[in-house]
Order: sequence, then C-alpha cells, then structure tokens
Amino acid sequence: MRPVPPLAVAALLAGGLMSVTAAAPASAAGASAVTKEPFGTMPDGTKIDRYTLSSGHGMKVRVITFGGIVQSLEVPDRRGRPGNVALGFGTLDGYLSPTYRTENPYFGAIIGRYGNRIGDARFTLDGTTYPLTANDGKNTLHGGAKGFDQRVWKAEPVRGRDSAGLRLSYVSPDGEEGYPGTLRTTVTYTVTPKNELRIGYEATTDKATVVNLTNHTYFNLAGEGSGDIYDHRLQLGASKYTPVDSTLIPTGEIAPVQGTPLDFRKATAIGERIRDGHPQMVIGRGYDHNFVLDGGGPAARVTEPASGRVMEVRTTEPGIQFYSGNFLTGRLVGTSGRMYRQGDGFCLETQHYPDSPNKPNFPSTTLRPDETYRTTTTYAFSAR
Ligand code: BGC
Repeated sequence: MRPVPPLAVAALLAGGLMSVTAAAPASAAGASAVTKEPFGTMPDGTKIDRYTLSSGHGMKVRVITFGGIVQSLEVPDRRGRPGNVALGFGTLDGYLSPTYRTENPYFGAIIGRYGNRIGDARFTLDGTTYPLTANDGKNTLHGGAKGFDQRVWKAEPVRGRDSAGLRLSYVSPDGEEGYPGTLRTTVTYTVTPKNELRIGYEATTDKATVVNLTNHTYFNLAGEGSGDIYDHRLQLGASKYTPVDSTLIPTGEIAPVQGTPLDFRKATAIGERIRDGHPQMVIGRGYDHNFVLDGGGPAARVTEPASGRVMEVRTTEPGIQFYSGNFLTGRLVGTSGRMYRQGDGFCLETQHYPDSPNKPNFPSTTLRPDETYRTTTTYAFSAR
C-alpha cells in the first residue's frame, strides 16, 4: 500500500507561471505537480529557486537552479515509506562551502560541457587544438574549473499530460573553459506517474565542438546518510569496459569484463570485490570506470535488500561511469545531518566514453552547427 502524499496538489502550469489548485482526494493517488520555492541567494545576489516535481505516486524530485542540481530524490520503500536516496545538502550554503568547493564531488549536478575526463586538457578538432582548463592534475574533469554544475540555469516548468517537468537552460559562451562554439543547452527533468526520473539533454552549437552531458547524482537506496552502499546489488548491461591509466584516462583499449571484479553482468553486491587488488581497482580506489553498454536492455539495475528499493537505468548513451564514491572523505555533512564517508553513495553517469575527443576508436562526441545533440536517460524506481 502506498501512503497518500501529505499534500497532493495539482499545479497549473501556464506560460511558465504556476498556481496551486485543489488537493487531490485522500483515497486516490495524487496528481503530478510542480511547485517552486526560494532556496537562497548567491554571493552576487542571484536568487536560487528550488522546484519540486511530484509524481503523485510517492516520488518527489527537488531540483535547484544552481547547477541544475537534483537536491533530493524521495521514493517509497517496499512498505511505502518515503526516503531521500540522493546525497546533497539542505541549504544552498552546503553547495557553496569552501570544503565542498575544494572536494567538489558534484552532488546531483548537471555536468558539462564534457562529462568525465579529457586527457592533458586539450583536444584537436578539424586541425585546431583547443586547450581546456586543467582541473584534475593535468587533465580536465567535468567541464573544467567552472562547469555546468556551477552555473545558474533558467527554469521553466513543463506541463505533461500526467507528468511533472522542469526545463532548464543555459547558454555557454564561445570559449568557455576553452571549448569552442556558443553552446545552447537545455536539460529537461521529467517525473512520470511510474516513478521514473527522465532526463533529456539537448544542445546546439554555432561552431564545431565536443559535448558530453550527464548528471552526477550519488544514490544510496537505503537513504542518504544511512551508511555505505556496499550491500547494494548492481547489475550492468556491459560485457566490456575502458581500462584507465594512473590518471583515470582511458588507455584506448576496450577490454572484456570477464574474469575481473568489473564483471557485473550478474547482479553482485558492490562491496563483494571492491577490495580486489586488480590494478584497475587500485587506480580507481574502487570502481571509477566507464562501462561499454551492450545495448538492447537496461544499462543498470540496482537493488537494496533492506529497503527493497530498486533503480533501473535506461539510456541512449553508449557508456556508463560506475563510480563507488571513493573520494568521499567524511568532511561533508549532508541533508539529514550525517556525514558522507567513502562509499556512502554511488553514481551511474550515462555518457560517451571519457577522452573520446582524443580517441578516434571511441564513438564521436563532435557536435556540428547543423546538428542537435539529443540524449535521454531514465532512472526508474520501484520496490519489492
Ligand atoms: C569521477 C571520479 C571523480 C568524481 C567526483 C566521477 O564522475 O569518475 O573520478 O572523483 O566524479 O569528481
């Protein structure tokens, strides 16, 4: 039995304006809804809003206009009890604190222009070499020093027949962080009545460039702040992965997972082989790898035995970065007032492979002015 949402409201979305209408009857599942509230002010005075997208079936996703961050993601457990399964902070200050900015784990954020790493912070396209901001040793990571995770996005609620959506947009000027072309980006979060979070990414450019957009939510299906994720069982639709060098840049090889701790073709507890001395595990301090998706089925499925929560990931992307939260240090205190230590959350970042602009054998990340970049990823939640 599902609990009735405490205040099931239907939001009327007209011309981007929202008005809250009637409460749904207590016996029925609620209507989908979008609501908006202030979430703080940036040091330069810019106001940040928080939008709540409700499925009407127990799922609530809260997104802030700073970084397009999924600030919380509430879904029911097997007994219908809601729990926030996304790591984050209760206030804007959490995302702006010096400790957070130094560690920069990218909680919940939209990642761009290029999710993951580009080796030596440079790439060559059509004969021109573009130097990028190096923010991860000599490499560039997740868009550079000030990526899409730190931009303020324009937000517009989107009305679906029975879904709750939010369209975020940001125009990245030509040359930002070294990337060529003005990139017009929209990211649409949609919460469906089936308790899915669908993320649609779109971008256009006025000069040839490279793009690789993703979302960096850390999940803990037992609830954020509840401890490590090592009991979660993970299944990946991937029989190959891209091995990395000591700086986490792919070597260019596409290797079978067979016989390695990276073989998740059968559901396996994340912690079962996390201390395996395989050289790839040592480099990543655990899992921090791009898996090459076989296609034809879900990219990933995660189940958490205690709560019964299940998350399934589907995507149009060819790869997925499975990151087991190895660099969380215990210095950040999250939404529920508990600290996040190593392994307290995991990311499944759908993407093109890292360093694709320098790897001709990887699927291309080039976007040209006559094209539109379009990808979709769905995180579907259930409980059993
Ligand atoms: C990367 C990690 C990195 C983390 C936080 C992940 O996507 O794969 O190597 O530490 O993001 O920056």
